Amino acid sequence: MQKTTGIYSMLSAAWVYETLMTLLGGKRKRQILVNEYIRPEKGMKILDCGCGPAEIVSFLPGVEYLGIDLSPAYIDQARAQFGEYGEFQVQSAAEIAVSGRKFDLVMALGLLHHLNDEQANALLATAYSALIPGGRLLTFDGVFVEKQSLLARFFLKRDRGQNVRWQKEYEKLATGVFGSDNVISDIRTDMTRIPYTHILLQCRKC
Ligand SMILES: C[S@@+](CC[C@H](N)C(=O)[O-])C[C@H]1O[C@@H](n2cnc3c(N)ncnc32)[C@H](O)[C@@H]1O
Repeated sequence: MQKTTGIYSMLSAAWVYETLMTLLGGKRKRQILVNEYIRPEKGMKILDCGCGPAEIVSFLPGVEYLGIDLSPAYIDQARAQFGEYGEFQVQSAAEIAVSGRKFDLVMALGLLHHLNDEQANALLATAYSALIPGGRLLTFDGVFVEKQSLLARFFLKRDRGQNVRWQKEYEKLATGVFGSDNVISDIRTDMTRIPYTHILLQCRKC
């Protein structure tokens, strides 16, 4: 579920979304995601759910990348810009599960906060079944935490995603599928140029 009316409707255009992400410090954010969390290796099979225009692909040389998104405009942009570096499909995660393809890493970067609990549970279950044993799911979303700056709260409440959650709520969703011993949760306040709080969940399939 995402806000799509008023000013939010402009973000449906891939170039508007990308320009906004760049202004917010998207390049640095992606570099942190790649270096500290994705940790790519040559030939690694990566499924990116809700990939958007897929700018992250340019930071992932040598991997086998499949990006899926429900937005044809974002997928068109991803294909035009990064077609030689990956495969891009207008598809839901549920369709990938049916395909039987397996991945070393599933990413859902900025997706869970667009999904209600039922949809988020379905996505997590899909990620689990699409991973090889030992594979990882990485999620990245805005989060409410105690003692948060008022400005971060202000921006989070205006996020396009309608399901920004509290830290414990995200963790409960992830541990429900992957088990409490297999989820590492990180809170960061340094990923964007504006005050914002993010949660990163790294979930391992045993
Ligand atoms: C905030 S954007 C994140 C895009 C990209 N991952 C990034 O980090 O820049 C969320 C994306 O999720 C997509 N999306 C929303 N609901 C979805 C769903 N149920 N299945 C797949 N993609 C979805 C939207 O179209 C949008 O491109």
